[in-house]
Amino acid sequence: TEVVIASDEAEGSRLAALIVAAQIRTKPNCVLGVATGSSPLALYEELAAQKRTFDASGIRAFALDEYVGIAPTHPQAYRAVLLRTFMRPLGLNESALSVPAVEPFTLERTGVDYEQRITDAGGIDLQILGIGTDGHIGFNEPGSSLASLTRVKTLTSQTRADNARFFDPPDSVPVHCVTQGIGTILRAKHLLLLAFGETKARALAAAVEGPVTASVPASAIQLHPHVTVVVDEAAARELL
Ligand code: F6R
Repeated sequence: TEVVIASDEAEGSRLAALIVAAQIRTKPNCVLGVATGSSPLALYEELAAQKRTFDASGIRAFALDEYVGIAPTHPQAYRAVLLRTFMRPLGLNESALSVPAVEPFTLERTGVDYEQRITDAGGIDLQILGIGTDGHIGFNEPGSSLASLTRVKTLTSQTRADNARFFDPPDSVPVHCVTQGIGTILRAKHLLLLAFGETKARALAAAVEGPVTASVPASAIQLHPHVTVVVDEAAARELL
């Protein structure tokens, strides 16, 4: 695991954008795994600002996760968020974005179907990740199997509280989601994990330096041969 400590979120996001842009230049038809949440937002903005320096028209994107129980057009549905923050700023069509199906009648098959779509696309070349204050990646909460694949999960009250800032009223945060599993994430060829701010310091240290354990799902990145972690000084504070 390569850990890059930037002075602040803006610098970290610029470094991360260089990595993503290099991936697109090396493989113009690459498959990107895209996280939502606040951590990658500055990276996505930076990438859009640099879009004349590479040709993104051939890439495909796979969402890391999606809420169950809100319409795909809800402004906080991850499909809508990714269209707004990642796809449109890069000039990409919605057809290049895959998101797990969350309609009630699809839930039984959604995991298997999503895994198949990833496989059919040739696998994810670069997976962008954030980390939850409880150590989750995707919505794989503590206790998730390190071999898990895409499936329906229940959000913990901690994660619902963390995400309440995006919802009005705050308690309307969905209870369920579909998320790539930890095993799915580990199949990506390169992982790029972003963590900014002191609220992430404990989880980040546990993920990078602690034992590999289902209690800290992000610790599974230690099992992956090609990981880049980009943090700011605040998030790096608990590292040894
Ligand atoms: C987002 C996701 C989550 C977030 C994590 C951190 O698609 O799967 O794991 O990456 O909750 O969220 P932020 O970046 O908002 O602190």
